[in-house]
Amino acid sequence: MKVDQALNIADLQRLARRRLPRAVLDYIEGGAEDEIGVTENLRAFARHQLVPRFLTSCSTIDLRTPLFGKTYAAPFGIAPTGIAGLFRPRGDIMLAEAALAEGLPYIMSGTCNAMIEELPPAAARNGWYQLYVGYDHAIDEDIIRRAADAGMEVLVLTVDSQVRTKRERDLRNGFTVMGLKIGPKMEALLHPGWLAGYLMTGGMPRFGNFSPYVKDAKNALAVWKFMTSHLPGNLVWEDVERYRRLWKGRLVIKGVLHPADAVRAVELGADGIIVSNHGGRQLDRGPASVDMFPLVRAAVGNRATLMLDSGIRRGSDIVTALCLGADFTFVGRATLYGLAAGGVPGIRKAIAILRHEVETAGRHLGCADVAALCADYLRSPHVEAQALSV
Ligand SMILES: Cc1cc2nc3c(=O)[nH]c(=O)nc-3n(C[C@H](O)[C@H](O)[C@H](O)COP(=O)(O)O)c2cc1C
Repeated sequence: MKVDQALNIADLQRLARRRLPRAVLDYIEGGAEDEIGVTENLRAFARHQLVPRFLTSCSTIDLRTPLFGKTYAAPFGIAPTGIAGLFRPRGDIMLAEAALAEGLPYIMSGTCNAMIEELPPAAARNGWYQLYVGYDHAIDEDIIRRAADAGMEVLVLTVDSQVRTKRERDLRNGFTVMGLKIGPKMEALLHPGWLAGYLMTGGMPRFGNFSPYVKDAKNALAVWKFMTSHLPGNLVWEDVERYRRLWKGRLVIKGVLHPADAVRAVELGADGIIVSNHGGRQLDRGPASVDMFPLVRAAVGNRATLMLDSGIRRGSDIVTALCLGADFTFVGRATLYGLAAGGVPGIRKAIAILRHEVETAGRHLGCADVAALCADYLRSPHVEAQALSV
């Protein structure tokens, strides 16, 4: 199978599996501990049903979605994913370029390999920057200054990654980001396409955005050591207030699940929230974002833009999220599988698949505009009234 023959995201995942060494694929696919959270993210979407409406002659569906003063081509974007340069050289830049070409937002990860300044200017202006707050505030503040200088208008603070999580696939594989144990190294020989790119670009990619703060900036290991001494910092609510004061653009808090946290973030001036469980990579027994989303929406109302990620593999997942009241959605692994499978064309293929599936589901619902999707189209037999104190 070739990339252009992929019918769905699972096909792209299979292609990625062929190209990547096991340990690298495990890093993308895997989650925390028993990976209950990863599975639950998928199941939680599948528990919702979309109820079709017929006889409406709905032949096209308008996917355009306004968000933070721009209009995107579809109601989803590319979530921040670290170390994309390991999946394919220039991986971050490819994600940014594909997003720009498709008219979708791209969130540059706080642990990406490219430097902000390496993004093509138009791709940078289309990008949002995701910050992992570290110990040295001066460095974080300099990074967000660089993001603003590049024309990025949205800052995303990820708040769910303060605890170093136990990802057992990575521990078994000896995947420490800067190197692999001997076994996985041997297995990498079976993936010559990936290996050639890895070796030709000098082995383990550098965490570019931190290199200006390291003396031996060309040395990937030195930059990695610096980064791991800086991250994760001790992120608390006062930091949200501080970044609200410092950042003139839109501020988004990513990783919120509890409605009370969402309310607090909005009260502190956040413009948007990404309800997310980090794709099941942090707290294994945490709830799926799609399960928490209605509670967050009920608590926040229309005071902020509410987005969602974690578990989206089909366009119908995106439609479900919109029916639940999400203003926008993000995908992590879906576009990474596309990246690993086929670079920019692979990412664009992932986007095309999701777009087409959103259109198909929307047309079945007889809803000509994604903006009109709402709870009327949804049947959620498992949902019971559940209150969490706000
Ligand atoms: C390989 C990988 C790396 C990630 N790196 C980051 C990151 O650097 N920053 C961040 O906020 N989230 C990161 N995430 C989480 C994603 O932004 C997103 O929340 C998650 O992938 C959504 O779930 P999905 O993969 O099921 O779509 C990462 C996810 C994956 C799979």
